[in-house]
Amino acid sequence: MVINRDEFFREVTLRICSSLHLETALRNAFVYLQTYFPLDDIYLDILDQNLGAIRRIAHIATHEEMAQEEIVPLPEGLWEWMHKKRAPFLVLHTDPKNYIRSIAPLIKLKGNSDLVLPLWIEEEMIGFLVMRAKGENRYSSEHVDLLATVSEPFAIALANALAHQSLVKYRDTLIDDNRYLKKELLAQAGDEIVGGNSGLRNVMEMVRQVAPLNNTVLLMGETGTGKELVANAIHFASPRKDGPFIKVNCGAIPIELIDSELFGHERGAFTGAIAEKRGRFERANGGTIFLDEIGELPPQAQVRLLRVLQNRELERVGGNKPISVDIRVIAATHRNLEGMVSENRFREDLWFRLNVFPIILPPLRQRKEDIPPLMRYFIAHKSREMGIAVPPGIAPGALDRLMNYGWPGNVREMENLVEREIIRNRGGQLRFDTLHAEGADKAGPGRDSGGLELAVSLDEAMASHIRRVLKIADGRINGPGGAADLLKINANTLRGRMKKLGISYGRDKR
Ligand SMILES: Nc1ncnc2c1ncn2[C@@H]1O[C@H](COP(=O)(O)OP(=O)(O)OP(=O)(O)O)[C@@H](O)[C@H]1O
Ligand SMILES: [Mg+2]
Repeated sequence: MVINRDEFFREVTLRICSSLHLETALRNAFVYLQTYFPLDDIYLDILDQNLGAIRRIAHIATHEEMAQEEIVPLPEGLWEWMHKKRAPFLVLHTDPKNYIRSIAPLIKLKGNSDLVLPLWIEEEMIGFLVMRAKGENRYSSEHVDLLATVSEPFAIALANALAHQSLVKYRDTLIDDNRYLKKELLAQAGDEIVGGNSGLRNVMEMVRQVAPLNNTVLLMGETGTGKELVANAIHFASPRKDGPFIKVNCGAIPIELIDSELFGHERGAFTGAIAEKRGRFERANGGTIFLDEIGELPPQAQVRLLRVLQNRELERVGGNKPISVDIRVIAATHRNLEGMVSENRFREDLWFRLNVFPIILPPLRQRKEDIPPLMRYFIAHKSREMGIAVPPGIAPGALDRLMNYGWPGNVREMENLVEREIIRNRGGQLRFDTLHAEGADKAGPGRDSGGLELAVSLDEAMASHIRRVLKIADGRINGPGGAADLLKINANTLRGRMKKLGISYGRDKR
């Protein structure tokens, strides 16, 4: 057969580039190649450096059953041998010098002829095209020469298809991330702040003042008081609400990664920095960055942060050109930063920069009026989450326990407690009787049970009053100075009422 090589090259190139979908392109080429070669199968193999193996990523065949993606491990020696191959070569089952024989059973060489085209891009071997025909010695040296003419288009097509595959994969991950994060943001933006008109009134007033501005905000408060919730509220009430809201937990990033994580790095800045990377500050451009647990920031990163706050400019690790950023900074900590400054564990200049608009979140024990509405909120919220149609009520007497508890873990502790309690008392009233044992008596500072006008039911008020009187009466109900006497009711009436309200009594209960 007389072959016009230019025509052959043109046609193969067109076909192998006809689709980014590897199989489709390969099938197009396969059909055409069959007119010039004995051909029953075509395989596309890539050399996987990480696996030390060949991965058969595509297979086109005349017959029906096509191989799944396969991995063929390479014996020692074969790898180097392959890397010396530039031109197409024949693989003969009988040739003792041929290294590929060592994997012959794996690739089912017996009874077939293989013609292999190594695929190189610049100085890198990326894989092989393997043409296979049934029977021995099917390929001639003319076949080898002809195939050599199309090694470049095959190599480029394979490289492009691989790059495309990984881009599509990345894109899908990103779309997925994005969808997830948007949902997450919406959920948080919609989160209600309970107590905004009572215990957190001052806090919310400050939020309203500062949100529209660009000021750095410092949120301080014990763990679980709602710092993150307030940071969200500030961002979503600010003109930056449509920009990114990037959260960084300064305590959660390994110390050796923190600079590059926050400020990014240039390619080659350190071992492992194979590509340039934008840090979280750059990602927050046009929006807000929330630096949670700012007290955990190591000294080196403190210096860099100071520069950003001073100049709205940053330098990537290993970079030398400043990059300007338009960001708003909200920082939070449960630590006493001022104390850390005096112990030289936190830079004083940075503290001044951060402390321009401090907002302090009071602990729950200092805003007991928020406890009943928070309870209602979490009971409703958690019930909905758990698919409980009618939220359970609070057993008589329980609210009293809740009010007198010290809440070292603040609102988060309450949230978790409610969840546990709903699970424990599925269907029934919430009693919170573990709380008594857990910590009512070791309640923290500010444990005052009186003095607050609370929106509680009459039963609650009565239960709590009876308890207090019982305490005064040393647990006695009868007799002079006993609870019934002090309350000026009949002892049996009192017992009946206590039973109804769920107050246990007796000396053991004191
Ligand atoms: N006023 C509130 N109204 C409703 N939910 C609240 C309120 N305060 C806190 N929460 C909820 O309590 C949990 C803890 O709040 P958040 O994460 O904001 O606390 P934090 O101060 O950041 O705590 P930590 O210092 O431990 O990180 C969250 O689930 C939050 O939604
Ligand atoms: Mg937090």
